[in-house]
Amino acid sequence: MLVAGNWKMNSDHTSARQLASAVVAAVGEPRQVTVAVCPPFVNLDATFGALHGTPIRLGAQHMHEADAGAFTGEVSASMLRAVGCHYVILGHSERRQFFGETDASVNRKIVQAHSHSLVPIVCVGETLDEREAGRAADVVSVQLNTSLKDVEVTSSERLVVAYEPVWAIGTGKTASPEEAQNMHAVIRRLLVAQFGDEIGFSIDILYGGSMNPGNASSLLEKQDVNGGLIGGASLKAEEFAQIVRAAQEKA
Ligand code: PGA
Repeated sequence: MLVAGNWKMNSDHTSARQLASAVVAAVGEPRQVTVAVCPPFVNLDATFGALHGTPIRLGAQHMHEADAGAFTGEVSASMLRAVGCHYVILGHSERRQFFGETDASVNRKIVQAHSHSLVPIVCVGETLDEREAGRAADVVSVQLNTSLKDVEVTSSERLVVAYEPVWAIGTGKTASPEEAQNMHAVIRRLLVAQFGDEIGFSIDILYGGSMNPGNASSLLEKQDVNGGLIGGASLKAEEFAQIVRAAQEKA
């Protein structure tokens, strides 16, 4: 189980450190649930300072696929490792929508993340139009299969998938527990087909999209919902901690 906070483009150097410290205090020692926060690049270092020596892990929201070079504004996997990142979110729908991220680039980035011992949190999810057209499972399957093409994982700890229906992100609308479970089962089948039973059944599949303390338990109790990728509610330490506690109840 993993509960990860995606702070998006929120916080500054000072408030990131304060939020991280508040999360540490509110979450305490999580039992059987891994907890991570993903601040903006410039606040990774400050956040790491506040997390250091605690069980809470650090993640980044994005990265470039190259080792280094003339890519103004971009950040590499080795840079993320150097500031203490364990995770990197790849293919978030906001990256796809506003910054041209594609399944093919996500695929290259997964390989690059792995070669620097970062654990990718690979995001997939359909738009409202795609869902209403009955194409949600197909869209998510293509996203996942293309993103994971030729990817090898030696342990289930090396990959996380997040199902984030685009229509549920930041909208206050959440997939029903049944809708989430149905899609997580599709994802589970693909993971098992690619990685085999042992690894495929134990990769964490997170749900993301307006998860909050009020709906977390009902989503997390579903069999293939193994945690959450939390946007808005991760900016309030106590709300985030309540979601962590809901995950602990299931674990
Ligand atoms: P939300 O964001 O919880 O604010 O909907 C989730 C995400 O985009 O990862």
